[in-house]
Amino acid sequence: MVLLTNEEQKMLDGKLGEAVQQSMEILYALAKIYNAEKFISVSSAQIAGVSYKTIGDAGLEYLEDLVNKKAKVKIPSFLNPAGMDRLQWKEMKIPEDFAKNQLKILEAYISMGIKSTCTCTPYFIGIIPKLKEHIAWSESSAVSFANSVLGARTNREGGPSALAAAICGITPYYGLHLDENRISNLVIKVESELKTSNDFGAMGYALGSKIKGKIPSFKQINHASHDNLKSLGAAMAATGSVPLYYVENITPEFILGDSPEEIAFEQKELNEIKEKLNSDSTPELIAIGCPHASLDEIKKVAELVKNKKLKCELWICTSSEIKEKSKEFEKIINQAGGKIIADTCMVVCPIEEIGYKITGVNSGKAAKYLPGFNKQKIVFGDLEKLIKNAT
Ligand code: F3S
Repeated sequence: MVLLTNEEQKMLDGKLGEAVQQSMEILYALAKIYNAEKFISVSSAQIAGVSYKTIGDAGLEYLEDLVNKKAKVKIPSFLNPAGMDRLQWKEMKIPEDFAKNQLKILEAYISMGIKSTCTCTPYFIGIIPKLKEHIAWSESSAVSFANSVLGARTNREGGPSALAAAICGITPYYGLHLDENRISNLVIKVESELKTSNDFGAMGYALGSKIKGKIPSFKQINHASHDNLKSLGAAMAATGSVPLYYVENITPEFILGDSPEEIAFEQKELNEIKEKLNSDSTPELIAIGCPHASLDEIKKVAELVKNKKLKCELWICTSSEIKEKSKEFEKIINQAGGKIIADTCMVVCPIEEIGYKITGVNSGKAAKYLPGFNKQKIVFGDLEKLIKNAT
């Protein structure tokens, strides 16, 4: 049985309006499915289901219905990437109809009080939940980073349940909100040399499907940067729905159970997966920033393309806040023929409709989704190599 406070009962009974009731019904149903005993307050919500490519007309109708019912969010809430850059969609060659519907989706979210920040790396723009803080985030790489690198507590919410949590300010207390479900049962000794975020993403890609359902703890990657970890977590989440991992000497928590299983990740496996993911073609588009690029990554791209001319399109996907801070690098990237694209990414925007068929990526997560979701042939490699081959 789910225990409800008086306020929660009022929400469920419709005493606080139709939109709150509809949202509370979603949360209550989830609480029953997952045997949650109660609800817990959350300090922020990150809402996926923003791109018109992923939610379509049905999603837009759902949001407009909530707006008509006067839905308003109760806690700081922000969005996952949309299907296009709000300002540069024409330069991206996004079809007009798509753009019209995408803008309606954004309008609907904004009118509910949600910040128009569209990013899967909110932690790069100051949205940094503290250790043990309960949140309701939905994009899988953001969930992984928040749980693992920041030590916050979140399940992987669906778009509608994150929105419901934003409107009600609570989420069912189950899964990764409970300390007893955050114990690692698998140690991974990394015996391969990981130099770049591409290596970390490739390892995450290879391990994800292998360790499905387990919470891994990594040893021997003390040198991993935040960019490396976002790449690792995103890839493991993409191939194995892994929402939490630990890294010895890096993550704020490292909680091992009794006698965990131990495996090694060897150089041979890293080389094999990198080879398998790379089609060895010539990319028409190089897309960097999955998850959304940090300022450091943009700086690195600028250094690589300085005084060169690109032979193919180059997009660096990031939030509009990071783009704003990258002005000096953007100039260099633009001069080489590349673009910094904000609010969207290569996966949730309709790149196949724009006409691209072969995309170069350094991200394990993008390598997982682009072939199926966007019908792309993949050129997989580290940033330096991708740019070198394209200049
Ligand atoms: Fe982010 Fe898009 Fe990759 S939402 S994690 S950049 S697929």
